[in-house]
Amino acid sequence: MIKAKLTFLSTICFFVLNSCDSKSKTLSVNERVSALLKQMTLEEKIGQMNQYSSFWDVTGPAPKEGSAAIQFDHLKKGYVGSMLNVHGVENVLKLQQIAVEETRLGIPLIFGFDVIHGFKTISPIPLAEAASWDLEAIETSAKNAAKEAAAAGINWTFAPMVDISRDARWGRVMEGAGEDPYLGSKIAHARVKGFQGDDLSNPSTIAACAKHFAGYGFIESGKEYNAVDVGTQTLHNVIMPPFKATVDAGVRTFMNSFSQLNGVPATGSKYLQRDLLKRDWNFDGFVVSDWGSIEEMVEHGYAENAKEAAQLAVEAGSDMDMQSLAYVEHLAGLVKSGVVDEKHIDDAAGRILRVKFELGLFDDPYKYCDYTRETATIGNTSLQDASLDIAKKSIVLLKNKNQLLPLKKEGLNIALIGDLADDKTSPLGNWILAAEKNSAVSVLEGLKSYPGNNVEYSVGTTLNIGPLQFAKELNINTTDKSGFAAALNLAKTSDVVVMVLGEHGFQSGEGRSRTNLGLPGLQQELLEAVYNVNKNIVLVLNNGRPLVLNWANEHIPAIVEAWQLGSQSGNAIAQVVYGDYNPSGKLPMTFPRSVGQVPIYYNYKSTGRPNLPSPGEVFWTHYQDEENTPLYPFGYGLSYTTFEYQNLKIESQTDTTLDVSVEVTNSGNFEGKEVVQLYVKDHFARPAQAVRNLKGFKLINLQPGATKTVQFKLTEKELGFYNSNGDFIFQPGEFSVFIGGDSTADLSLKFKL
Ligand code: NOJ
Repeated sequence: MIKAKLTFLSTICFFVLNSCDSKSKTLSVNERVSALLKQMTLEEKIGQMNQYSSFWDVTGPAPKEGSAAIQFDHLKKGYVGSMLNVHGVENVLKLQQIAVEETRLGIPLIFGFDVIHGFKTISPIPLAEAASWDLEAIETSAKNAAKEAAAAGINWTFAPMVDISRDARWGRVMEGAGEDPYLGSKIAHARVKGFQGDDLSNPSTIAACAKHFAGYGFIESGKEYNAVDVGTQTLHNVIMPPFKATVDAGVRTFMNSFSQLNGVPATGSKYLQRDLLKRDWNFDGFVVSDWGSIEEMVEHGYAENAKEAAQLAVEAGSDMDMQSLAYVEHLAGLVKSGVVDEKHIDDAAGRILRVKFELGLFDDPYKYCDYTRETATIGNTSLQDASLDIAKKSIVLLKNKNQLLPLKKEGLNIALIGDLADDKTSPLGNWILAAEKNSAVSVLEGLKSYPGNNVEYSVGTTLNIGPLQFAKELNINTTDKSGFAAALNLAKTSDVVVMVLGEHGFQSGEGRSRTNLGLPGLQQELLEAVYNVNKNIVLVLNNGRPLVLNWANEHIPAIVEAWQLGSQSGNAIAQVVYGDYNPSGKLPMTFPRSVGQVPIYYNYKSTGRPNLPSPGEVFWTHYQDEENTPLYPFGYGLSYTTFEYQNLKIESQTDTTLDVSVEVTNSGNFEGKEVVQLYVKDHFARPAQAVRNLKGFKLINLQPGATKTVQFKLTEKELGFYNSNGDFIFQPGEFSVFIGGDSTADLSLKFKL
């Protein structure tokens, strides 16, 4: 094994006091943390709270101050506790050697990275994975991402993002699990378990980070970084549950949010970080700020200057400063002048050291720096296979008129049209810091891998005509129609047209809000032009957020929601199009009919006038020019088979629990999977509750003609809610349960507890 650790082990033992001798091994992690803290100077403790990005990869605006020279100087003095955006054993090793060999105490660095949905082998974007409703597959996906990243020197991911959002204008909905707190909590739990495993010191696991605490998904008007104003009901019942789920799953770190919540920037919120997270939830890991968010409190109009921002952030419980340089520059002075109590520094540094101990970095700082493991793991076929598996499961069939899908595998002339059909980068999404551009399987390649049909490709219209960079806007083509004619000619002479349209991977993600949710550029025009010459169209959508698809829904016979599916995208889409995989995904976010309906979500609260009193009357909750209902509701998704629900019944009941069952039958001709969803309505509650809330789901597989009885148990946990003080309460009374294949399920029964 080529390991630097052998060369440096003796040095480490010398430098890292209390770490390698046999006595220290018998001490608990907390005892080791306390012993180490006692040996550290104030500046060294603050150093642990300082995180720098590499200079070659940045995932935020370049810092106003600071330079590589300053970073190296700080590194050598022990004034850096963590680096982000460094990857690859060689790079990690170099920096870790400086921290371990050249600083006074030799405290190892923790290396953070945005391992959001894969490292080099990319899985579907998180919103797409959420559409699988397959918790096991989601956990495996996170586990594989951790394994691959860990092999490249990373020991901490800035994931999962667990922000609930109801606003498709916000570009970052691609990074979360959608709009529902129940589904979001289950997924949050699965992702943390996947990244961290059962043993953080295992070199194939990495520390997870629940982000962005809290409220970021509710930014006003979906405009990036905007302020958030939400009431206590939404805060406790919608925003908080997935964060709490990550704590229950043992998450070791949190990241706070850029946004302000009810007038207080999350980074400076004592309520969020000290009171709720660290006191009420008993979280003993650490909180990292988001990129520059400590200093941004000045721009928020909350702190007078960076110095005051540092004071407010540390007092509020932000333990590590990502890229503001505010802690490293101001905290020592603030402590020495008596403004900041040193206990806050001890608490923050102690929390960071605790996670480093748990990762085993003090026992072996080079455990993530194994060249052999790096070569053997990165891009390994087993990771590609797993990526394909979850990619298929993430696809949602939105429409399939006259069973146009699945297509025959032989004898068809297929016209494949659309820039995204031949794109090998866009399916990877925007978080592709370590992945190779141009490395995904395209739809063109996927369809061609079935040799029985003749697939001809025509671009139709180019989508992006500028460079492709993580930190730069795209340049969407809105004028050049030179490809239309060839595409129309091809479509005319084909049996079926497969059109791959939607958003480029770089049109969603951070800094990528939109006010228009239609197909970008000239794609809608192209779709309509092709439809005029051949109506037999399968529309495959690539997108990172719900789109407005009214025209397509009205005219196009088959619509497949394929998001951005990662490295194996084209293969997954081909397997669904040809029926080798029967689609089973269900939407984790509502698709609106119009941007004007946004935010639109299934678990809204009733108004006092929800129903039309008589035709033509205006005094009820509605729009003059649009329906109230969405185009596709939360939880919706078709299959090549059909499922029937019957015999919903109460099996047993106590004062606080209810057991219900329902029979689900596969009434079609294909074997298929169904996500059986259970929603609860609390008829009278104070405060009033949503019209219904998801409170259970089960993923079942059924052969044609087969029936399964699916059972659910409801307890106070599912039937209660948080009141305005943030206390969880259960109010007995009248409830209804609804079970079915989406959030509009109408098979229901009423009960009283
Ligand atoms: C800013 C993003 O908001 C956050 O999610 C990410 O982890 C950091 N940048 C680091 O790249």
